[in-house]
Amino acid sequence: MNTSAHDSTDRPAPVVVVLFGATGDLARRMVLPALFELHRSGLAPDLVVVGNGRGDLSDADFRAEALEACQANQPDTPIPGREWDAFAARLLFAGHGFTVDDPGALPARLADADALLGDARGATPDRLWYLAVPPEQFESMTRALGEHGLSRSGRVVFEKPFGTSAASFASLDAAVHEVLDEAQVFRIDHFLGKEATSDLHVVRFANGLFACAWDAEHIRSVQIDVPETLDVANRGAFYDRTGAVLDMIVTHLVQLAAEVAMEPPASLAAADVAASREEVLGHLIPVDPDQAVLGVYDGYRRVDGVDPASTTETYAALRIGFDAPRWRGVPFILRTGKALGAAHQLVTIEFEPPAHRCGFAAGANTLRFDLAGDGAVGLGLLARTPHAGAETELAAVDLELPLRDITGHAAPPAYVGLLLDVLRADRSRFTRPDGLRHVWEAFEPLLESRGTPVPYAVGSRGPAEADRLVAPTGWLSEHPAGRREV
Ligand code: BG6
Repeated sequence: MNTSAHDSTDRPAPVVVVLFGATGDLARRMVLPALFELHRSGLAPDLVVVGNGRGDLSDADFRAEALEACQANQPDTPIPGREWDAFAARLLFAGHGFTVDDPGALPARLADADALLGDARGATPDRLWYLAVPPEQFESMTRALGEHGLSRSGRVVFEKPFGTSAASFASLDAAVHEVLDEAQVFRIDHFLGKEATSDLHVVRFANGLFACAWDAEHIRSVQIDVPETLDVANRGAFYDRTGAVLDMIVTHLVQLAAEVAMEPPASLAAADVAASREEVLGHLIPVDPDQAVLGVYDGYRRVDGVDPASTTETYAALRIGFDAPRWRGVPFILRTGKALGAAHQLVTIEFEPPAHRCGFAAGANTLRFDLAGDGAVGLGLLARTPHAGAETELAAVDLELPLRDITGHAAPPAYVGLLLDVLRADRSRFTRPDGLRHVWEAFEPLLESRGTPVPYAVGSRGPAEADRLVAPTGWLSEHPAGRREV
């Protein structure tokens, strides 16, 4: 098995990317634009993409669809013809699906792809298999790779959720490892690829100010708050099988919690960072269903593809915790939902007030990581309101560092960075099965007791009863400058 995909300049070796589900929503919104960006920017110049699907598109049709998708991804900036043509020449389509019984046109198109790359650099191309397909197809597609002799080399990217319960995770994991070595497997969670997510450990470990205060003695709570104004749009059928807990909580938000909670890694090497993040997941306390509020927005059950009698939740707010000395008693509060009145992606660390306050009214400091857009790091602190007299009146102030100000330009979107990681075989921002198994086990009590979700109005704050989960602090995202009398 070849897993070394980069030379000393970190330029990925020539690679054929096989994109299963190439005409689907995920491929169009995320994967194709990311592959185009990798090629256009010169980060991965030697790639050829073979799209795969059940239909029988010509290469020209696939290229036209891909252009439409990439242009829709950057509506305000026309894609220059020269840049597109150079990429489009590297797009092939292999139709007639890909199953255990029938590999369709893929084997023949792989030979075409190799020939294209062989001309470019004369090396044997790597393989990257990208499963942009519904999770229930992960197992059969993996088996098909094995069946057709395509699993011996290359890397395989799985979308999320990887499993739907502890039992289904275990069976998928076993099936995948019958065919693939773990070194080949990349389970993507794009929240780990957001620029501000890396700062969750970088700001902490690089700054003594925070490194020495990162524990239960100094941190009162951690809020991970990702409300969305988007509804489920045209994803009704997928979403109804998934729900907010699987779509966002056990996946993205728990990974963010692990980024906050991890112990210092032995080094910044990929294996050490991933190991720290995964290990803390072993300390997740089983989720108490009484500490969770699930909701559904009015009108959800009338969405196309949704069962009119559905009990799927579109909102989830819950408290989790880690049974580790560093975190004993510190609540991690996770919230997300569709069709809400506000949209943001905030991780806020709420610090305890000083033990000796010199008579100041108590308030809380916050350190905030804004994952949305280009990302930002913010600090909420208390200072003196400027005025002439000696007496002090405290002001809650907010400092914010937009991450793009550091270099003058933004980091590329998460999928670009994560795909580059796969090409370079850098696993620091990918999940491991040991951590995922712990997550599924910790969520089993909640998953087994999900009742009928509480209705909430479109454009609202979601179910009011979720406020008890953050009492007495309140939702920190709703009071950015940190007033909070405690
Ligand atoms: C996806 C979820 O993984 O993440 C979506 O399936 C959600 O439901 C999306 O809207 C949010 O992430 P981003 O980065 O697109 O805002």
